[in-house]
Amino acid sequence: MGLKPATNPDVEAVAIELSIDGKSVTAKDGVSLYDVISSTGKIIPAMCYHYTFDPFGSCGMCLVSQEGKKAPVRSCTAKATAGMIIRTEGDDLFQARKKAVEKHLSVHPLDCPVCDADGHCELQDMAFRHGVTNLANAKQKFIPEDTRSPVLDFNMNRCIACAECINVCKDVLMIDALQFMKKGGFNQVVPKGDLALSCEFCGDCLAVCPVGAITNKFSKYLYKPWQMKKTTTTCNYCGDGCQMYLETKDAEVVRVTSPLSWKNKWGDRADTAKGHGGLCVRGRFGFEYIDSAARVKQPLLRKGNQLVETPWLETMHQVVDRFSEIRRKHGPDAIAGLITARCTNEELYLFQKLMRAGFRTNHLDSSARYGHLNFVHASRHALGIGRSPNDWEDLTKAKAVILIGSNITETNPLTAVRIKEAIRVYNAQVVVIDSAFTNMAKLASHPVLIKPGTEGLVIDGLVKATLELDLIDQDSTQKHPQAFKALKAAVAHVSLEQVAAHTGMSVEALKDTATIFAEAPRSIILCAEGIVRQPDGYQNVLKLIDLAWITGKLGQPGCGVNTLTEEPNEQGAVDMGAAPEFLPGQASFNDQVARDRFAKAWDVTLPAAGSGANLVEILKRCRDGQIRALYVIGENPLATLPASMEVRAALERLELLVVQDPFLTDTARMAHAVLPACTSAEKDGTFTNLEGRVLRVREAMDPLGESLPDWHIMTALANALGCQWEYESSNDIQAEIMKLLPGYYNLGQPRKVVPTVDRYLSNGYAADVAARYRASAPIDSKNQRPFALLMGQILYHSGKMSTEAPGLIKIAPNTGRLRMNPQDMERLAVGEGTTVRLTSDRGSMQLAVQPDQSVAPQTCFFPEHFNEPPVKDLMSVQVDPTTGVPSFKQTRVTIEKA
Ligand code: SF4
Ligand code: SF4
Ligand code: SF4
Ligand code: FES
Repeated sequence: MGLKPATNPDVEAVAIELSIDGKSVTAKDGVSLYDVISSTGKIIPAMCYHYTFDPFGSCGMCLVSQEGKKAPVRSCTAKATAGMIIRTEGDDLFQARKKAVEKHLSVHPLDCPVCDADGHCELQDMAFRHGVTNLANAKQKFIPEDTRSPVLDFNMNRCIACAECINVCKDVLMIDALQFMKKGGFNQVVPKGDLALSCEFCGDCLAVCPVGAITNKFSKYLYKPWQMKKTTTTCNYCGDGCQMYLETKDAEVVRVTSPLSWKNKWGDRADTAKGHGGLCVRGRFGFEYIDSAARVKQPLLRKGNQLVETPWLETMHQVVDRFSEIRRKHGPDAIAGLITARCTNEELYLFQKLMRAGFRTNHLDSSARYGHLNFVHASRHALGIGRSPNDWEDLTKAKAVILIGSNITETNPLTAVRIKEAIRVYNAQVVVIDSAFTNMAKLASHPVLIKPGTEGLVIDGLVKATLELDLIDQDSTQKHPQAFKALKAAVAHVSLEQVAAHTGMSVEALKDTATIFAEAPRSIILCAEGIVRQPDGYQNVLKLIDLAWITGKLGQPGCGVNTLTEEPNEQGAVDMGAAPEFLPGQASFNDQVARDRFAKAWDVTLPAAGSGANLVEILKRCRDGQIRALYVIGENPLATLPASMEVRAALERLELLVVQDPFLTDTARMAHAVLPACTSAEKDGTFTNLEGRVLRVREAMDPLGESLPDWHIMTALANALGCQWEYESSNDIQAEIMKLLPGYYNLGQPRKVVPTVDRYLSNGYAADVAARYRASAPIDSKNQRPFALLMGQILYHSGKMSTEAPGLIKIAPNTGRLRMNPQDMERLAVGEGTTVRLTSDRGSMQLAVQPDQSVAPQTCFFPEHFNEPPVKDLMSVQVDPTTGVPSFKQTRVTIEKA
């Protein structure tokens, strides 16, 4: 780790001067000489170097001549120092590099024609460039290929022992799943312990391998690189918004590659703070849903009990006629719409415009309602900003991170890499507070296991500890003495000992965490599913903001309270106004000035202020018969929400259910009409990631069958309903949004948001604050069922969409089993595969169990992606009174041997 002083924000790097090829160059003292050379624009050969991890110095390609040294030096491992005189070109260096290539080629099979790296191979390039002909002493290794991994094949005959795969996995990802092992006289890369590869299957090792030693199982032997169309786009799985290359051949998606590759190995390592360009398993290997045979390729219309393939024109006529009839007979409030946050910004904008200006109803919602809106509302209420304030760079450079209620390596793996970098490079203190043994907890300086559902109480304890230890920022609190007094009074009843007893977080850990957070110069809070998708999510975010306020962390550079978004465009859904409470730009739907502006822009009268139903209310009104027609785009409430929400009853009562989706989902099976939508790979648009970065989604292939982009279908529907929309492309919609929300499309750069807390603290704060600390009074644990059942995301899946990707199902199939802590299993005398009876207040079911070390004692876990068996139906639902967010991911259960 010795070569990174220039990337440490705490150390002012000393500027030095050195000479490269006769030109004076200014650099930072101590960084890799290779980095300095590449910063001048000169790219010299390098086969084992990658700027994202420490130099390894094995390939012998980056040789340069240093005045005063007889032999050439390896520029990657050499540190730049003042006064160095360096030469990078010359016949001597060319010959020395040529020898290195010969050495590598002499133990490398010349099987380029059948190698997947052919045409994308650094060794091949170097052999051409150096005119290598002398392979007299070549010998073959004859190592059998290791094909045991579900996604990667290891062909060690081709390996040049550069260690890039090992280093990226160990250093950048901190997973450390690979190692060198001397076998058959050769140093080979093997999965740890020479067992079958067991890792996160991100494929970053594949990306950086400069030769064809690691191969992608999905695309092996299929095509050569030049035969494929390569489209740069944004991943459609989570809110990290990773950039990827979708490589297609006609209507077939062949593979996904990443900006991280041996091809982009040079750069300033401070850049890695913005992202190393890699992908996670979902992004790299989860693409098969796109051209899946299960896609709906033609419109379906219900005829009797059947959904029958019907031409677009006939289907649209039926849909429009029935929507129009319902509107005519029962008014616009008999119609509602739901949309997924996997749609683009342009589509989310169009959706709310269609509902409001086309149907004239404000009954609309998106999947941001499942939790993100708790964060948005709290942050807007307190700070005036409706998204996370910090970007990836802030995260990387943080000195203290409190990660509460977030299994970040599973939900947002690439944001997790930023925290790993904060730990590894910037020595950040990371406190992970969770009710599971998460992967991040294993890397954190302060892992804290708490009892499920006690996150709110933990925050009370942190606020109280901050006050008790006088870790207060005087400037921030003195400005608002009334508010500060009210906060102190609100937590007066909180006892750290009691918090410790109820949560499992010791008094010492509470105090340590408060101290670490308050004393660090750059402190970040990250809260996710364990806060925003749980009861009191809104209030708990406000309490985290209290903590940040009294420690002076609001509005300070590199500090703030943040969240994660699980779907790719939850932030965009809120920003585009796909919620009854918001117009685009998060303007309040009831704000008269905003209403006038949009009414004028759309040339309509908007639905009445104060009108509008959110997800939970929409379903209720469907059940009550008030809403008679529902337009569902990409959402699948029947498979997502627990039985207690009576979704089936709500949908059955409808006179018209129109589902627009790439797949025939459970909800779609109940529809009167199914409109085939295409995936994000078949359309243009943008997503807004969790940093607020607007990222391009690009069409990589033609829509499959007769499927169409959602924006296209909505435009047709709107026009048939009498609107006069002239959008011919996503760009046309973008142009309209640009006019209405100037500055939103700051492509590639997150817009800076500045929290303003003064108005909040001086307006009603004192009256509000007591309630939120009362809200988390500990629940009486007596008479409770003994286990907490948690449902949540696992790394290999995202919602239900990933279950349509066979590659991901191969890695992580639905076992149908309840995951339990091995100790609990032992106590209950149940073994792997034993059937148990799982009972909650909502019902009971039988299923088998499996041990899982990451599940804490007294809890059990079932992945939310699967409904066989329908564990979700054991959940109760609590709806947040302020934000309308339904929480249904946790309940108490009994587990007995069946
Ligand atoms: S796939 Fe990812 S986690 Fe697995 S060995 Fe490669 S780099 Fe490591
Ligand atoms: S497998 Fe590839 S990346 Fe790993 S050491 Fe061998 S050549 Fe280098
Ligand atoms: S981290 Fe999220 S956005 Fe990035 S590749 Fe994985 S699923 Fe896609
Ligand atoms: S030895 Fe420097 S790049 Fe390989």
